[in-house]
Amino acid sequence: MSERIFLSAPHMGGNELKYIEKVFQSNYIAPLGEYVNKFEQSICEYTGAKNALALNSGTSALHLALRVLGVGEGDDVLASTFTFIGSINAILYQNANPVFIDSDEESWNLSPILLNKYLVSCEKKPKALIVTHLYGQSAEIQKIADICKFHGVYLIEDAAESLGAMYDGKHTGTFGDFGVYSFNGNKILTTSGGGMLVSENKEWIDKARFYSTQAKEPYVHYEHKEYGYNYRMSNVLAAIGVAQMEVIEERVAKKREIFSWYREFLEDTEGISFMPELPNSRGNRWLTALTFENKNPQTVMQALELINVESRPLWKPMHMQPLFAGAKNFLDGTSEKLFDKGLCLASSTTMSKEDVVKICKAIQSV
Ligand SMILES: Cc1ncc(COP(=O)(O)O)c(C=O)c1O
Repeated sequence: MSERIFLSAPHMGGNELKYIEKVFQSNYIAPLGEYVNKFEQSICEYTGAKNALALNSGTSALHLALRVLGVGEGDDVLASTFTFIGSINAILYQNANPVFIDSDEESWNLSPILLNKYLVSCEKKPKALIVTHLYGQSAEIQKIADICKFHGVYLIEDAAESLGAMYDGKHTGTFGDFGVYSFNGNKILTTSGGGMLVSENKEWIDKARFYSTQAKEPYVHYEHKEYGYNYRMSNVLAAIGVAQMEVIEERVAKKREIFSWYREFLEDTEGISFMPELPNSRGNRWLTALTFENKNPQTVMQALELINVESRPLWKPMHMQPLFAGAKNFLDGTSEKLFDKGLCLASSTTMSKEDVVKICKAIQSV
């Protein structure tokens, strides 16, 4: 059996071990240290974010964003229904109520039209919106940001999957009050696990930093007026992150190339539609995602499994999850349709064109 092809395998850039060795030489393998600062700086330089905070996960970053914005018990928080649970759990940590908004067909991401309709008609004004840039493709983020501003709703961008994606030449994650990136094992860059919180607002990032290190007041003894978390990234993992950032543009280019190969070989197969890219945007094509009109995605998955290739259904919308039975939502059926017909194809940056051809042939044979 040939070697397994994964959805999105980790891919080291080259300098990771060198930087880890430097960390060991300094003896500073403890949390924090030189590479944490360097990693934060490299994210700011690359994305144009003003302030960054390196954390142990993207989920922690989302949680801190909500905490800093004062989202608490009983507050409504809007969110993309078509997303991964990591986007939503933080709302539950704050004892707030998620309200799920559907996608549109133009972007597969949160629909600005539905968002606006909801905000115009809702009885209880939500405190914030968490919008996901799904599979690395930008949402209609400028429109969404304008709507949030108009209605006085904080905007948090879940850019966990979309580092390197841009809209109107500006990086996803830098339009909202906060942006969040993830460096989980399967992301475009990985530190094995990690996250980054970014914001224009330095005070907010400072406050998030304070909460992320057990909310220690500035005294020599440990004084506490508020509760915090142990959410910081370690210097060792940040060293991996710094090396990974050196190849981010290469990784985006390769992901986009893999997508273009899939398109080339599947374009003429009837009933296939790829996740769109908004005209004024550049997605990172973290995962090539598509829908089938004439094939059962589960049968396609089985055919790919037979040749030892990983694939995955599109995210099951949050409003369909048993956990959120009874949650408020504003839907038009788009995400349910996508879930029913869609699949994510293997998009590891180590893949060759031959790998993609093999996968496409298996799809066509179904
Ligand atoms: C859309 C989305 N949001 C949030 C997360 C959570 O990130 P992390 O795994 O770093 O906590 C992920 C990925 O895992 C994700 O894909």
